[in-house]
Amino acid sequence: MSEARLSLAILISGRGSNMLAIADSCDRGGIGARVACVASDRIDAAGLVAARGRGLEAFALAPAAFGSREAFEDALAERLDAARPDLVVLAGFMRILGPGFVAHYRGRMLNIHPSLLPSFAGRDGIGDALAHGVRVTGCTVHLVESEVDSGPIVAQAAVPVLDGDTRESLAARIHAAEHALYPEAVRRYVREPWRREGRRIVFGEGAGLAGLPAAEVAHG
Ligand code: GRF
Repeated sequence: MSEARLSLAILISGRGSNMLAIADSCDRGGIGARVACVASDRIDAAGLVAARGRGLEAFALAPAAFGSREAFEDALAERLDAARPDLVVLAGFMRILGPGFVAHYRGRMLNIHPSLLPSFAGRDGIGDALAHGVRVTGCTVHLVESEVDSGPIVAQAAVPVLDGDTRESLAARIHAAEHALYPEAVRRYVREPWRREGRRIVFGEGAGLAGLPAAEVAHG
């Protein structure tokens, strides 16, 4: 992989604290990448304001303005591809993406989930772990494949569940772990050698991101 700065497109739906952690790391030169754009499916996402406040290109596309999920995702891919991202980073993007979109960014799209997958996949990974009574939970960065929360795992961090934890206190501990884990996982995935062995991403050998087919532009 050349030392040229790579481009990240970050997708959010909410406050965007993971997006900001990644942008901070980019600014410090910690990833060797830049945030080319921030996109949201919610025009009221607080993270959009924060992104623009730090000079990042940020836009929202409202799914309701499109006739179908496919039409929305085609429009989103067209906007993203205009920024020529080497990697698409889902950071609290609260929509399930369809097979065409997932295939278009195969190997080039990461997500973060607030549990140690495959435990507590789904919409409420934090609440489900707390309700189950586990003593350790955490967060997982994984490749996005067509089944939700199921792609190969790039990085995980464990977080203890303490007696007396509420959903809020546990969420705060998990978010803090995410803010350390996600920038480092992105750096590793775009900068270090890796190869894929079935579901496993094996770091230390292989062509890594450079071994993927060139990032294609969806629409011209
Ligand atoms: C994070 O907990 C992430 O694991 C989940 O959505 C949350 C996003 O938080 N997918 P933020 O918008 O990055 O603050």
